[in-house]
Amino acid sequence: MNILAIESSCDETAAAVVADGRRVLSSAVLSQIDLHALYGGVVPEIASRRHLESVVPLVDRALAEAGLEKKDLDALAVTCAPGLIGALLVGVSFAKAAAYALGLPLVPVHHIKGHIASAYLAFPELAPPFVCLAVSGGNTLLLHVKSYTDVKTLGSTRDDAAGEAFDKAARVLGIPYPGGKEIDRLARQGREERGLEACLRAYPLPRPSFADAPFDTSFSGLKTAVVNLAHREAQKGREPDKPALAASLCEAVADMLAERALAASRRTKLKTLVVCGGVAANSRLRERLTEEAKREGVSLFIPPPALCGDNAAMIASQAYYEYLSGVRAPLDLNASAQSEL
Ligand code: KG4
Repeated sequence: MNILAIESSCDETAAAVVADGRRVLSSAVLSQIDLHALYGGVVPEIASRRHLESVVPLVDRALAEAGLEKKDLDALAVTCAPGLIGALLVGVSFAKAAAYALGLPLVPVHHIKGHIASAYLAFPELAPPFVCLAVSGGNTLLLHVKSYTDVKTLGSTRDDAAGEAFDKAARVLGIPYPGGKEIDRLARQGREERGLEACLRAYPLPRPSFADAPFDTSFSGLKTAVVNLAHREAQKGREPDKPALAASLCEAVADMLAERALAASRRTKLKTLVVCGGVAANSRLRERLTEEAKREGVSLFIPPPALCGDNAAMIASQAYYEYLSGVRAPLDLNASAQSEL
């Protein structure tokens, strides 16, 4: 079954064709990062306008790269929530019009369920149930994936997402948006040159937790602590040691996330852990999770970085399982900026 999916929830326009939920026939992604980097973050109105310009050529590209024509498609899918409302509406409006014109069923997909499905594309043997840590620029969620379509939230961030903490720290250190990848590179440099312990001593950072909600996270305090450390150095007329500060930040985030992910695996008695979303590309988080999972006999699945960022192949994969369970969108489908799983 060939599903063409469209993703436009934030600052990537994407279209992809996936066969039977697992085989990627094409995956076209157009990042808008250069456009938004000028402003230090995503500008919603600019994002919507660029999606509007890009969606038709990207769909044509996805079909051409898959070697298919419109008549070879069995269904369409689209990300309908959560995300920037104007951005989502571009994809949803296009998908509804295309489904109507082609006489095809339309499947609505929750963006986070799409991120979970990126692991189905990377690992053919993977199937629910499992614990999933979904970490991106907009979300930090610990999930119990009971089946392909039934997902329960175990914990979430009380304020900012982990990716926001990386991006804000990067900004204060003069690194262009989105700075997570560069913070990761600097942190590796800091660990290699100064050693982890020295970085942690030079820039101690908090690791908040909640006694009543052990799977919840909070990153706003961490974000503020990095900003304060950088400002304190500036007041003394010094530049912060960027590699050491980045190493301390990556360690704090990796500590908090690895501890909770493994605790969730113990609580649910599930020995499979999936990590997805843009922040899953972080090398220290990957290392820490690998060590902890090995120690506890948990099988760890982290998709490659290309599948961790926003893409439409993951949306097409999830749509296949939604389709099998009978989910169809009416032609008055609306987009939603926020939505429970
Ligand atoms: O999933 P994603 O591509 O977009 C959404 O937020 O939906 O995630 C983007 C986030 C950004 O905050 C970016 O800085 C962060 O992922 N990121 C990283 C790394 N690569 C991307 N954060 C830490 N380390 C990385 N290697």
